[in-house]
Amino acid sequence: MLDDAATDSPSAAPPPTGVGRGFIYDMWYFAAVSSELKAGALQRFEILGEPILIGRDRTGDVYALKDICPHRAAPLSAGKLVKDPAGQSAVECPYHGWRFRTSDGACSKIPSLVADQAMESERIKVRRWPVHEAQGLVFIYMGETAKDDTPAMPPPSFEGVVGGGPKLIERMDFDSHIDHAVVGLMDPAHGPYVHQQWWWRSSKSLYDKEKRFEPRDYGFAMARHAPSRNSRAYAILGGAPETEITFRLPGFRWEHIKVGRRQVLALTCLTPLTETKTRITQLVWSDHPAFVLLAPFIREGARRFLKQDGDMVNLQNEGLRYDPPLIWIDDADRQAKWYQALKKAWIASRRGGPAFKNPVEPTNLKWRS
Ligand code: FES
Ligand SMILES: [Fe+2]
Repeated sequence: MLDDAATDSPSAAPPPTGVGRGFIYDMWYFAAVSSELKAGALQRFEILGEPILIGRDRTGDVYALKDICPHRAAPLSAGKLVKDPAGQSAVECPYHGWRFRTSDGACSKIPSLVADQAMESERIKVRRWPVHEAQGLVFIYMGETAKDDTPAMPPPSFEGVVGGGPKLIERMDFDSHIDHAVVGLMDPAHGPYVHQQWWWRSSKSLYDKEKRFEPRDYGFAMARHAPSRNSRAYAILGGAPETEITFRLPGFRWEHIKVGRRQVLALTCLTPLTETKTRITQLVWSDHPAFVLLAPFIREGARRFLKQDGDMVNLQNEGLRYDPPLIWIDDADRQAKWYQALKKAWIASRRGGPAFKNPVEPTNLKWRS
């Protein structure tokens, strides 16, 4: 069992220190939806406090460059995509026209130089982050420093799930550190209080739950099971739906529902924009006929869920402002403890400690909700 700073007593179980501060690096984060990155367009993002230009070149490849020109700091995203003299795709700064190749971030042209002003412009580089495109999504690998930009872990895998572009995209920015957003996302006990709506569940139906959890690559999963009898939303899928919920660092939560041969995959991605702002993106793929029909209602439902969580986060911030100690109890807050332990194990492995080993052990968790 895994309780570093915490005990198994439900009374006092302080979470480890460092919750709600900093970022975890050397990880893949969700950056954008593929269809929102048009060829030739330059878009500015802020991810982990870094200004990042993410664009798609004319051959369809996505690239991510630091959105600060190394000359005099103009945002490259205000420039344009051009072809450099060697025919490669480059971003041209709007201020003095320096060009940076999208393939490696090297400066391929400084227009103000005259013929006898020798300067090895290629030695000037803007930082370039690895990107990965899959399942209609773009992921970015955030190394701790520019030297760490060779991925130390594979990107999230979507093997065996319904593919194509997402059928539903909802997003919202929470005024919250990613830690609190993850803990809120994986928290099984707030449902009856925060998400009361007739089609989801009623406030009066609290049941004892017991679910099997197991370690899964950089996270853990609630093993495949039939959804709770007080979760009405599953009923629209008909048949005998079975769902599996997986969490993976740094902030991915999959819910994969199977009804016979049909599937619904709901992915929630948490991307820290800054230390105090986290973007939550809710994506759904499905080949279930009921999903297509009910998409507008599901969209409305997803929106309402996010809003309810967002409102609660704002309320919680009233308290977090004072940096109070928090009490995490078993088993309802065990997933929060696992998240913290996974983070610690990953960070230690990146700082020269032992190789990453998933600290989660197969466990049954019980709670009432
Ligand atoms: S600031 Fe970018 S070229 Fe001068
Ligand atoms: Fe919630």
